[in-house]
Amino acid sequence: MSHDNLLIDDQDGVRTLTINRPDKLNALNRQTLLELFQAITQAHGDDQVRVIVLTGSGEKAFVAGADIGEIRDQSAVQARAFSAMGQNLMAIIQNLDKPVIAAINGFALGGGMELALACHLRIASDKARLGLPEIKLGIMPGFGGTQRLLRLVGTTRALEMSLTGEPIDAERAREMGIVNRVVTPDALKAEVMQLATQLAGSAPEAVSGILQAVNQGADTDLNTALALETARFALCCSTEDMREGTSAFLEKRQPEFQGR
Ligand code: COA
Repeated sequence: MSHDNLLIDDQDGVRTLTINRPDKLNALNRQTLLELFQAITQAHGDDQVRVIVLTGSGEKAFVAGADIGEIRDQSAVQARAFSAMGQNLMAIIQNLDKPVIAAINGFALGGGMELALACHLRIASDKARLGLPEIKLGIMPGFGGTQRLLRLVGTTRALEMSLTGEPIDAERAREMGIVNRVVTPDALKAEVMQLATQLAGSAPEAVSGILQAVNQGADTDLNTALALETARFALCCSTEDMREGTSAFLEKRQPEFQGR
């Protein structure tokens, strides 16, 4: 499938998906959501891809939200389908067994913030602004934002952000635990690639075990989550990468993980 609104680039096991509608500040219309579905699914099934980076085209925006023109013209039934489609995409990203890093290069508003929240790690430019401004349009977040933000920052802050719709700057987002790191715009790509390449060189079974234990553990009771941790720990110990990692430590050398 060729993509109208997505650029795809591969480098050292890192697949970068760039949402490419700069004249609309990379707003998510249906077509772009479909292309993201397709590209994420393809990256998931490709053994050469170890890490996915999501970012936006241009200097201004990561993603400035769902496409407001499409929202205005839809019926309630279409709106329900649109919300379900967005939620499904975000769930696929969150539940992926490969790390997904959001490189937030500018505005991450509405669906853009929801997309970033579904990623596993977020690195922002100090020019970025994040927010859920849907309230100003007479609507509310519909791609999982009410729930992911709540789980990340608690009810007090989630309600303030979604009820006022006021965006916050990247540094405030870092203080609140919404983004992991903040760097200058010029440094963003290198910082993201450094982290992505580090993760791409790690043992994939360990990476996917951590992703599943933390993601599913966050929404389940402690005993069930600990049982999952034990199962995934045992699975790690069945891999050649475990032998390599432990042997390399004992032999005082760097490990070379093979993904086996
Ligand atoms: N959906 C559709 N189009 C969008 C959009 C969105 N979410 N966000 C921006 N655009 C379009 C604008 O309509 C404009 O298109 P035009 O040139 O054809 O008129 C273009 O992108 C540039 O945006 P503009 O508003 O002129 O840029 P700005 O620098 O003045 O403001 C923002 C930037 C991000 C503050 C402003 O675009 C904005 O508030 N966007 C909507 C954010 C939002 O409410 N998101 C939630 C949607 S549910």
